[in-house]
Amino acid sequence: MAKRTTSSKRTPSSKGTAPAKQAANSLWGGRFQAGPAAIMMEINASIGFDKRLYRQDIAGSLAHCAMLVKQGLITPKEGKAIAGGLNTILREIEDGKFRFDPKLEDIHMHVETRLTELIGKAAGRLHTARSRNDQVATDFRLWVRDAIDRIDAGLADLQARLLARAEQHADTVMPGFTHLQAAQPVTLGHYLMAYVEMVGRDRGRFQDARKRLNLSPLGSGALAGTSLPIDRRDTARALGFEAPTANSLDGVSDRDFAIEFLSAAALCAVHLSRFAEEIVIWCSAQFRFIALSDAFTTGSSMMPQKRNPDAAELVRGKVGRILGAQNALLVTLKGLPMTYGKDMQEDKEPTFDAADSLELCIAATAGMVSDFTANETRLRESAGEGYTTATDLADWCVRKLDIPFREAHHIAGRAVRIAEAEGKPLEALKLEQLQSIEPRITRDIFSVLGVENSVKSRVSLGGTAPKNVRAEIVRWRKLLKRKQA
Ligand code: ARG
Repeated sequence: MAKRTTSSKRTPSSKGTAPAKQAANSLWGGRFQAGPAAIMMEINASIGFDKRLYRQDIAGSLAHCAMLVKQGLITPKEGKAIAGGLNTILREIEDGKFRFDPKLEDIHMHVETRLTELIGKAAGRLHTARSRNDQVATDFRLWVRDAIDRIDAGLADLQARLLARAEQHADTVMPGFTHLQAAQPVTLGHYLMAYVEMVGRDRGRFQDARKRLNLSPLGSGALAGTSLPIDRRDTARALGFEAPTANSLDGVSDRDFAIEFLSAAALCAVHLSRFAEEIVIWCSAQFRFIALSDAFTTGSSMMPQKRNPDAAELVRGKVGRILGAQNALLVTLKGLPMTYGKDMQEDKEPTFDAADSLELCIAATAGMVSDFTANETRLRESAGEGYTTATDLADWCVRKLDIPFREAHHIAGRAVRIAEAEGKPLEALKLEQLQSIEPRITRDIFSVLGVENSVKSRVSLGGTAPKNVRAEIVRWRKLLKRKQA
């Protein structure tokens, strides 16, 4: 997250009430005589964080400038000087040569002030038919759109890695859980494919948000539009927007696009967190289902034996701030009268932080997906612990003996009771023992009691059978290819 640049400058003696040694603002100071109090500057300045909008801000200005020339609102010569200056500023910022100054409030004023230094009076023409209100709404939409595109690429990569591991483990049998109690055997491939589905829906949500976001507020002016003959369609097109927003009040005052982004981010983070939680559990000495390498674990300063899954814990831990960001922005907007209010400057920090955190979580999860080794022996062993094939026994009675499922459930339950009393797995029971519960049971029942056979038999649509998992991998590979095209 970008650091505040102002707080260290305040001295205790000034108590923040004294006017800063500064004349009225050069960009909006026409009706002001004195400069702002130091504390006013501190609370007002957003440059510490909105400098991250520099690329979008300059892109917006370049599009606006080109349109002003086409509409005859500024001369081609002025347009050329402005565009040249803007490109110089872009380079200065990217090369780390640009000087940021909290007195200049925000990124918009920094760019314009520097432009004036570079090209003189013509710079003053850039703000024709434009306000910082439509400017910041435009910049922020562009920034969120870029974040969505980066996140989508990260999620596509995560899906590809999950697919590779699912393919490798299409036949690896493990216990499936409900209530974190062993329930039925599944395959690790099937489990990983569940996350491919979740991530697929996450991507869908980001794309939905992107569609609604992709309208240009530029040209809405401060709130009411402008009397000057601008062409909003032209700037929208130049910036890759679908169209201009239809209502100038709405254009400058809503931040629902950012909230939608944060909502999609929150849900995506929750998915990653559930996965992370399982990685943490599975790495424990009690489970030993998987192991992470040195690359994704850390040691303990005191306990030499420790190998902690910190990356997974942090993926789980970062959800708090992402959910917090969504909440923060909802509360900021709630009760805010139309149109722009300076409260809205508070939209950026949580959004930037949530995007940064989520990108990090996605990359760390992708790393762990490729990194982990599955303990196949252990997974197979525990797949059968806890009588996980009891349902298979009941299903066999339904299929072969035409017994109603409720009754078959009782038969299987009694078999579990006998096996439990003898401390044996179900498949170690004698045929006679099973027949003492239901005389029509035959030796054939043993074919479904092993965990491999159990998973192989689950061929219903969406079931865990290895052949289903392989078909799903093929389907997803095609889908991903199409989505990336
Ligand atoms: N820094 C401001 C923000 O982030 C830019 C818009 C300021 N507009 C204004 N009328 N003061 O919201």
